[in-house]
Amino acid sequence: MKLLITGGAGFIGANFIHYWMQNYPNDEIVNLDALTYAGNLENLKDLENNPNYKFVKGNICDEKLVDELVKDVDAIVHFAAESHVDRSISDSGDFIRTNISGTHTLLEAARKNGNKRFHHISTDEVFGSLEENDPAFNEDTSYDPRSPYSASKASSDHLVRAYFHTYGLPITISNCSNNYGPYQFPEKLIPLFATNLIEGKKIPVYGKGDNIRDWIHVDDHNRGVDMILKKGKIGETYCLGGNSEKTNLEITHKILELTGKGEEMIEYVADRKGHDKRYAIDFSKAKKELGWEPQISFEDGLKKTIAWYEDSQDWWKKIKNGEYKEYYEKQYKS
Ligand code: NAD
Ligand code: DAU
Repeated sequence: MKLLITGGAGFIGANFIHYWMQNYPNDEIVNLDALTYAGNLENLKDLENNPNYKFVKGNICDEKLVDELVKDVDAIVHFAAESHVDRSISDSGDFIRTNISGTHTLLEAARKNGNKRFHHISTDEVFGSLEENDPAFNEDTSYDPRSPYSASKASSDHLVRAYFHTYGLPITISNCSNNYGPYQFPEKLIPLFATNLIEGKKIPVYGKGDNIRDWIHVDDHNRGVDMILKKGKIGETYCLGGNSEKTNLEITHKILELTGKGEEMIEYVADRKGHDKRYAIDFSKAKKELGWEPQISFEDGLKKTIAWYEDSQDWWKKIKNGEYKEYYEKQYKS
């Protein structure tokens, strides 16, 4: 099998490529990534000389390039996106271009090249925000995106489904909750707080810290994507979640404990605009149809993740001081 992975130099995509190469070493992977601020080839350094792995620097909005690459693969797993909510609030242009137009470009190439198998990576944020006692999101929950990021992802989900209904494109979609694990860009809650605390810096909790997210280890997410690719029903959506709802303050206290720091490191700052209150996922469809459920407990996963950030200071210090871009600019100057 030959896979085109988009956004494979980012957090979840890079973990997916490692997962795939470990489990299916004879498969071939082409990784198409524009290397935005979030793309980092150091995440895949160990695969550089693997003959079954190829990196292509390019944009998913580039019709010609995408067409050439799609022609030559059996399936596309589409991770590439602008992924950070706060950035979408300050400037949403790239979110619209990459998440909507970029997805459309890939769908067109998949359609024109013989209806290639297409798996779209999406998010639980498309369903909007829950109150404390509301039932969890599932595949039948109406879409109600509330940030430019989630609106752009919702739009891409609609396009993917439209290509199934209109052209019979063999698609599947996964809507997953908040991921954590190695190689996550230190702008997201867990890596930002872990790296700040290791550096002795304060950690900015938005509002009262009572917003709730459902946390899943990135390996559980990627195993779910694998099972959807292998056993998922064409045209269907699968919700994947971690069975681990926590308030931001609960997470903050756990990270403080794991890094040996005290409450005085917390700085309460202004709330995010339109801050979604709670996300929660009912993954019973994935459990029933695929036999998938998360296997990594939050306690264990977080402990290992914080240990990874403790041990990988070279990786994230280069990101925090901007040095990480030099590595690939030498090799892939565009
Ligand atoms: P990320 O920001 O870490 O990585 C995104 C990658 O996409 C980067 O390598 C970047 O260079 C690349 N990219 C961006 N624009 C591109 C373009 N125009 N052309 C080619 N490459 C481009 O994101 P992530 O957290 O790994 O998220 C991956 C996917 O998973 C996204 O689609 C996101 O919406 C979804 N998702 C993320 C989470 C989460 O908690 N992080 C949860 C559910 C779903
Ligand atoms: O639910 C899935 C989504 O999870 C993905 O689709 C997104 O790509 C991913 O970024 C993530 O979105 P969130 O907005 O939930 O993640 P973030 O890490 O930005 O924030 C998690 C919570 O922590 C949220 O309630 C805001 C809060 N927060 C975040 C940051 C960065 C803080 O309190 N302080 C911070 O500095």
